[in-house]
Amino acid sequence: MTSGSGAPAHIERGDVCWNAGDFESALGHYRLALDADAGNVEACSNVAAAHYQLDEFKESAKFYRRCLKLDADYVEALFGLASALRGLEDYAAAAVYYRQALALEPDRIEPHWELGFTLDALGDVIGASEAYRACLNLDPAHGVATHLLNALTGTTTLAAPADYIASLFDDYAEGFEQSLLDDLHYSVPEHFRAEMTNIFGAPNDMRANNDSLPISWALDLGAGTGLIAKAIKPWVENIHGVDLSKNMLARAAEDKIFEQIFVMDMADFLSNHRDGAQKTYDLAVSGDAFVYIGDLEPVFRGVANRLADQGWFLFTVECLDIGDYALLPTGRYAHSKTYIQDTAEIYGLKVMDLRKIIPRRDGNEAISGYFCALQFK
Ligand SMILES: C[S@@+](CC[C@H](N)C(=O)[O-])C[C@H]1O[C@@H](n2cnc3c(N)ncnc32)[C@H](O)[C@@H]1O
Repeated sequence: MTSGSGAPAHIERGDVCWNAGDFESALGHYRLALDADAGNVEACSNVAAAHYQLDEFKESAKFYRRCLKLDADYVEALFGLASALRGLEDYAAAAVYYRQALALEPDRIEPHWELGFTLDALGDVIGASEAYRACLNLDPAHGVATHLLNALTGTTTLAAPADYIASLFDDYAEGFEQSLLDDLHYSVPEHFRAEMTNIFGAPNDMRANNDSLPISWALDLGAGTGLIAKAIKPWVENIHGVDLSKNMLARAAEDKIFEQIFVMDMADFLSNHRDGAQKTYDLAVSGDAFVYIGDLEPVFRGVANRLADQGWFLFTVECLDIGDYALLPTGRYAHSKTYIQDTAEIYGLKVMDLRKIIPRRDGNEAISGYFCALQFK
């Protein structure tokens, strides 16, 4: 490591923290570098990038603009400012900087889909499709661009690509629960609590009678940060969680609600026995995760294989009025009541409850969903 107190030494110390994922400390070192040399464009860009990592988009944009005053073609600052403006939902300005940056470095992959997303938000469907296709020209297997292009063009696929889910929720994990509470009015955990009370009785009554808990092993599919696991915990001894996003599960692990967590696709988990997993579960739950899967047959088949006799399967979906399932422009899938009923029947799952709910809101719009309770018998 470089010793001393000049800008390069501070940048080097900042880089060590950055590489360890400690963006707060990295920011401190980069600021010292900038204090030592106010004209150092690299230090300035690093300060902006660290603010971005900390979701401080306004500060990030401020320092990227300062970089561009030092060097108008500093390409990291152009890409960075575009992303910070996208974070601030200033899509019109973001598009300008994405285009300027991509004109200088057209082979960068990620900014193409980010520009697509930005143009989509501005209602520019043609521009957005072109940008997603440009991303796919550079990387034909790019899951995010594939899925967003399919959603934009109304092309229903079997499921969202695993790398789309992992990248969406790995990024989202930090602010997930706050955003559900503040913006989305997420009601799904309450519906699980209500259904568990309907089926198994109120937890207080069980405790008063000193009864053993009705569920020995539960499995949470698309467990996320563990909100559903927490909701069902009063009735359950042990819970396993499965999710494609390691960051969502890392947050869940902080609350120690799961006996074990598995970072993988839920259908894969169900169809192959994993070390540490139970052969059968008394209850399988999935809250707001089937909205990322169109074809639910592999999951229903897997759940039927892994549920104990009389075991329960509780989940939510978004409503579709006509057809089986469809990928919506939101990038989420919706499923029809008849599709759920028919698929359940194929795998010997009896529909015990299937009712309309409002799982969450999207801006002013109330999303329409179903809460489903199936029993294996
Ligand atoms: C909207 S979150 C809901 C999380 C949690 N169930 C809750 O109600 O708070 C959806 C979760 O499903 C996960 N997910 C989506 N598709 C999946 C799949 N095929 N296999 C495993 N997890 C998946 C995502 O990573 C994400 O954590």
